[in-house]
Amino acid sequence: MLSPRQQHCLKAIGIRRWVERASVTESAAIAPAPLTTESPAIVTASPAIEEPALPPATLDISLDSWDAVNHSIQRCEACQLTSNCTQKVPGVGDQKSDLMIIGEGPGHDEDIKGEPFVGRSGQLLDKMLAAIGLSRSQVFITNIVKCRPPNNRDPHVDEVQACNRFLRAQIDLIKPKVILSSGRISAHSLLNTTQPVGRLIETMHQLPDSQIPVKVTYHPAYLLRNPSAKAIAWQDLKTLYRILHS
Ligand code: URA
Repeated sequence: MLSPRQQHCLKAIGIRRWVERASVTESAAIAPAPLTTESPAIVTASPAIEEPALPPATLDISLDSWDAVNHSIQRCEACQLTSNCTQKVPGVGDQKSDLMIIGEGPGHDEDIKGEPFVGRSGQLLDKMLAAIGLSRSQVFITNIVKCRPPNNRDPHVDEVQACNRFLRAQIDLIKPKVILSSGRISAHSLLNTTQPVGRLIETMHQLPDSQIPVKVTYHPAYLLRNPSAKAIAWQDLKTLYRILHS
């Protein structure tokens, strides 16, 4: 049985009817299994004195500390996104968290606030985290690219590549127990694949050149447009919960 708190959280993220992963139809309805801690198998960044202008980031600087990563992100001019955004959005949260959540790129709200996932998608993400007992301050949230792509277009390959060293440095510093990859752009970039998200969420993955498990899930923006997919996202959250508590 789900606890009253869990039931409240599920209701908050909009899950009222339950669909078994193997037979997802909009009409199917089953009760959600409770959270368990059994692990799933892994298949495969003096007011009076005028500040000097920061020099552009150099590619040879070692990104082995949070200061280095954050300063380099702020000085970065490696792609065209940097000249069009309001500000850089490096990431937020617990730099020692077991869970790292990686989205696509800042949208309008994030670009204004300088923090990832603060718009409608972010509100849903917060509710999803609450459903497994986590707050955003307990996880580290960032994006594949740290600057808003204009008109919320997908980031280009060269932009993803230019930002990759910051993401990799963040991952290396956090050393998360698991990564939650949110949406197609994130999954494709992290896993170097073009498989559909619907396929990628079926199994666990491993971050290339590392031992870190990656759970792919639907992007909250997709869930807002397709509420029936929330049932699958709940399965993903339960998988995450098991890994975090194993
Ligand atoms: N979507 C993302 O992928 N990242 C954000 O920070 C906000 C919306």
